[in-house]
Amino acid sequence: MAVSQTALKMPSDLLSRMDEARARTDALFNLLPPNSYYERPIPERHRLIFYLGHLEAFDWNLLSGPLGLRSDDAEFDKLFAFGIDPVDGGLPTDAPKDWPTIARVEKYTEEIRRRLDGTLANPRAAARDLPSDLAGGTLLNVAVEHRLMHAETLAYLFHNLAFDKKEAPFKPKADTRPAPAQRQAMIAAGSATLGMSKAARHAFGWDNEFGEQKIEVPEFSIDAYPVTNGEYLKFVQAGGYRDARHWKAEDWDWRQQAGIEHPHFWLLERGAQAGDPHARWEYRGMFGAIPLPLSWPVWVSHAEASAFATWAGKKLPTEAQWHRAAYGTREGIERSYPWGDDAPDASKGNFHHRNWDGTPVDAHPDGASAFGVFDLLGNGWEWTSSQFGPLPGFEPFAFYAGYSANFFDGKHFVMKGGSARTDACMLRRSFRNWFQPHYPYVYTKFRCVEE
Ligand SMILES: [Fe+2]
Repeated sequence: MAVSQTALKMPSDLLSRMDEARARTDALFNLLPPNSYYERPIPERHRLIFYLGHLEAFDWNLLSGPLGLRSDDAEFDKLFAFGIDPVDGGLPTDAPKDWPTIARVEKYTEEIRRRLDGTLANPRAAARDLPSDLAGGTLLNVAVEHRLMHAETLAYLFHNLAFDKKEAPFKPKADTRPAPAQRQAMIAAGSATLGMSKAARHAFGWDNEFGEQKIEVPEFSIDAYPVTNGEYLKFVQAGGYRDARHWKAEDWDWRQQAGIEHPHFWLLERGAQAGDPHARWEYRGMFGAIPLPLSWPVWVSHAEASAFATWAGKKLPTEAQWHRAAYGTREGIERSYPWGDDAPDASKGNFHHRNWDGTPVDAHPDGASAFGVFDLLGNGWEWTSSQFGPLPGFEPFAFYAGYSANFFDGKHFVMKGGSARTDACMLRRSFRNWFQPHYPYVYTKFRCVEE
């Protein structure tokens, strides 16, 4: 369906949100000295220079057709079109010399911004008829949230750069606060609503958020706090990484092949053994190492979270259980956020780009849910035991068919919540994130349930 030009007015709030999103990603790249752009901090991912070009190439490939614009640089549009997500092996082998100079990529990105912005400000001068996806704001929302998601995944990449390869705005301070004692919150039986109805299409969501599914959830108990570094240390010291009984077969194979002995965000004192109760541990912060903060959540892969849950005689929550614990109430209504219906602010959790690292799991009591479950949004996504799949009536976006559907493969698990680097706009209840189980670089925590 097309919308006539006379009816078209590009929503100005979306244009200013695009400016803000660009400022976020520009600020990230400003942390890099020039010779860091060609680093590959995570072996499965592209070199950082790719992402400098990718954010603009994505916007261009999405918006130029509907706006009736012709490319000046089809080679770069293609070179910077797609990221990578190899599951189990198959690492990229390109060399720094295979990539263009920073100046050349910056010229490309500046030109794209100039051309897109000029046309978005005056879309009548462009295409004769504009597709409804553009006129209705969907495509600009996709461009803004795609960029903000990269602001988070770039933070994972930067986290893995050596400390001397980024320009630290500060040095992290030790946090010696003890972890709160873990306790269980009882969650009364009731319904959990996943996704949102297609009638709510006026609200932006990605394709995987549409299709409303109500699920009746029997009573269960859940950890009131995410599992902390302090709790997880007991699993490591008990030899949890050396005992195959706690691990699913494919997770154990991955652990052995990758030689993983502890969470990726932990650093073990040189020469020490992971199981040694006297070994000194540090936390790998964004801009420096600090003694392991016991009250912060542990960030681990799905494989490691599942092994801990098995060792503890518990389980990871299903997506529906997580929803019930986060948004449900005894009265039966479901809230927009764990704390109620007020928009997210700094008192509710560690999200929206405020911190580069974790905070204590009990630092935001105002963000607790009706059932007294803490730290659900922010401070790290949370693993569920649910495989990522379509909600009833799923339809892929026509302009981005593979965004979700390429990952409905039984090899990715749903994550809920958000991290310190998740923008507040993606804390909406229906938002779903997903990752493969053998990828330890993500800001993802977990908590356990008993049924
Ligand atoms: Fe992307």
